[in-house]
Amino acid sequence: MSIDKIVSLCKRRGFIFQSSEIYGGFGAIYDYGPLGIALKNNISQLWWRAMTQLHENIVGLDSGILMHPKIWEASGHVNAFNDPLVDCKKCKARYRADELFDGDLSNGKWNEIQCPKCGTTGNLTEPRQFNLMFKTHIGPLEEEASVAYLRPETAQGIYVNYLLTLNAMRLKVPFGIAQIGKAFRNEIVARNFIFRTREFEQMEMQYFVKPGNDDQCMVDWKEERMDFYNQLGINPKKLRLHEHGDRELAHYAKEAWDIEFEFPFGWSEIEGIHNRTDFDLARHQEFSGKKMEVFDQVNNDRFLPYIIETSAGLNRMLLAVLSDAYWEDGDNNRVVMRLHPRIAPVTAVICPLVKKDGLPELGRKVMDILKPYFKVIYDQQGSIGKRYYRQDEAGTPFGITLDHQSIEDNTITVRHRDSQQQDRVEIDQLVTFINNCIEDYI
Ligand code: GAP
Repeated sequence: MSIDKIVSLCKRRGFIFQSSEIYGGFGAIYDYGPLGIALKNNISQLWWRAMTQLHENIVGLDSGILMHPKIWEASGHVNAFNDPLVDCKKCKARYRADELFDGDLSNGKWNEIQCPKCGTTGNLTEPRQFNLMFKTHIGPLEEEASVAYLRPETAQGIYVNYLLTLNAMRLKVPFGIAQIGKAFRNEIVARNFIFRTREFEQMEMQYFVKPGNDDQCMVDWKEERMDFYNQLGINPKKLRLHEHGDRELAHYAKEAWDIEFEFPFGWSEIEGIHNRTDFDLARHQEFSGKKMEVFDQVNNDRFLPYIIETSAGLNRMLLAVLSDAYWEDGDNNRVVMRLHPRIAPVTAVICPLVKKDGLPELGRKVMDILKPYFKVIYDQQGSIGKRYYRQDEAGTPFGITLDHQSIEDNTITVRHRDSQQQDRVEIDQLVTFINNCIEDYI
């Protein structure tokens, strides 16, 4: 299955649009339509609940996108958050050097490598380092002293607030801080739809542990994070863990694993789980001059906690969910987004069979009963088959139809999206029935 089919469905059904489309589009930025934002919110709420509600010792935070520029010096982003960039002098195509040469880039024979776009050799430049952070200026003057950066990750906002959070909430190691928010990277090559974009959202959780407990903690978080994808309804066969080898390991990490998903364009990372040691806290201690240690009451001494980070891309998770859900049901000549009902943008569509005989009025009553519990929509346009198929593409798991029998005995039919089977259910029992179907969905 090609990614183009998903791109096209996302536009057609109002999940995702190219940014600034009427102006010809804007590179690697996407806008989320009504169904896209609903799905994105459902995924992020599930993550937020998994972190801050199901763990008593994990709390939330929402830090600024713009922060003190010294933070990015301390974190290493100013000096080291670079991608190697190579240009073709002939056709002006631009590449990340590591996409063209798999090895030590300084040993690459660039004048012998072919440009994938125009096919010539001898026209590629030597790689030069390109910093991925977006720079801006605070205040009216564009001078060096006013430089600020759009954050390239949410993690640093957690580190610099960690002592304030710990004291305010009277936390003790081990504890975690979770944050969801925008991050920005001036990616050289942005492709594969929303997989790699210049503006995206991260869901990051930083878990502060005593040094020595970090290895076990990595094991536990790897397991817990893999489990999370079951709740999203993603096929476990399309998920795997990949450990970073020496060449991939970031400068701050002692150990790192990626959760990878089998996208239509191949296996790629959705989430990273990293043992960052005390690297970040030590650096912020050095650059800010502020003590970042916690007090150990048992041993009566102070220490810098180690940090286990789980860092997921919300947009990539959404793309994984969409790719996994896309199903061409050849037998019935329809496309179905088999989204888990727990995260589907719309839970049920309410369809009176005809626009008369009291059915629209009863339909509105059913809407009012369901609205407080689920996102429901009302549709009385076109044939019932067409209404169902529209909602199949939108991933709506339940179609509720009212017919003349509904007026007589207060029952409706519930049509199940994937199997197309129908159940007759009493209107009074509908909320419980739908809740049970969501819980039992496989
Ligand atoms: N704080 C650690 C960190 O930022 P990362 O591996 O650079 O680690 C974490 O990013 C996650 O953020 C990735 O697994 C991916 O899901 C997401 N991500 C990173 N760059 C992205 C981009 N340009 N577009 C979309 N998502 C991105």
